[in-house]
Amino acid sequence: MVALQSASYYVVSMMPPKTATSGSSAPVPGFDAPLEVLADCHVRMLAQCSTLQRLAAHGAAPWADEAAQTAAHNVIRYFDGSGRYHHQDEEQDLFPALIESMAGSDPVCIRQLVDSLTREHREMELRWQTLKAWLAGIEAGDAVAPPQDEIDLFVDQYQRHIAREEQELLPMAARLLESSVLSRIGEAMRQRRGMRPR
Ligand SMILES: [Fe+2]
Ligand SMILES: [Fe+2]
Repeated sequence: MVALQSASYYVVSMMPPKTATSGSSAPVPGFDAPLEVLADCHVRMLAQCSTLQRLAAHGAAPWADEAAQTAAHNVIRYFDGSGRYHHQDEEQDLFPALIESMAGSDPVCIRQLVDSLTREHREMELRWQTLKAWLAGIEAGDAVAPPQDEIDLFVDQYQRHIAREEQELLPMAARLLESSVLSRIGEAMRQRRGMRPR
C-alpha cells in the first residue's frame, strides 16, 4: 500500500498537463484549431488516467483524506464532462467530416478506423461506470477497495486508443480536411460546451 500523499500531490496531478509537467505557459488551443483542442484533450485524459492509478495505489487506505476525495471528484467531473464531450466531438463532427471528405471514392479504411474507435468509446464508457462508482465511494469518504482489473483495463484501453488517434486519426484529419470544414467542427465543439466565441 502506498502512503497517503499531501494535497499538493493531487493538485499537481489535476492541473493541465502542460503546466503540471513542463511548466510551459503555452496557451490552451482555441476552437478555431479543433484538432489541437482534441490533441490537448488527449493529454488531459492521460493525466486523469494517472490520477486514477495513483488513487488505486492507495489500496484500502483511509479515504477520509481530503485530497483523495477532491481528486476523485475531479476525475468524475472530467470523464462525465469533458471526456464525454470529446467522444461526441469525434463521433458527431470529426468522423463524419472525414468520411465526407472522401466523397467520390470508397472511404473503407476511414470507415473501419472510425467504426473501431466508436466501438472503443462505448467500451470505455461502460467500463467508466464501474470506476465512477468506486470514485464516488472515495469522494464520500467510504473505504472502497479499488476495482484494480477494471482500472488497468480502462487505462490501458485509453492509452492505446489515444495513441491510435494521435498516430492515425489526427494526422489524417489534418491532411484531408479543408479549413472551412475545420472551422465548422470547431464551432460545433464550442457550441456543445455552451461556450461563447472568443
Ligand atoms: Fe476517441
Ligand atoms: Fe480522442
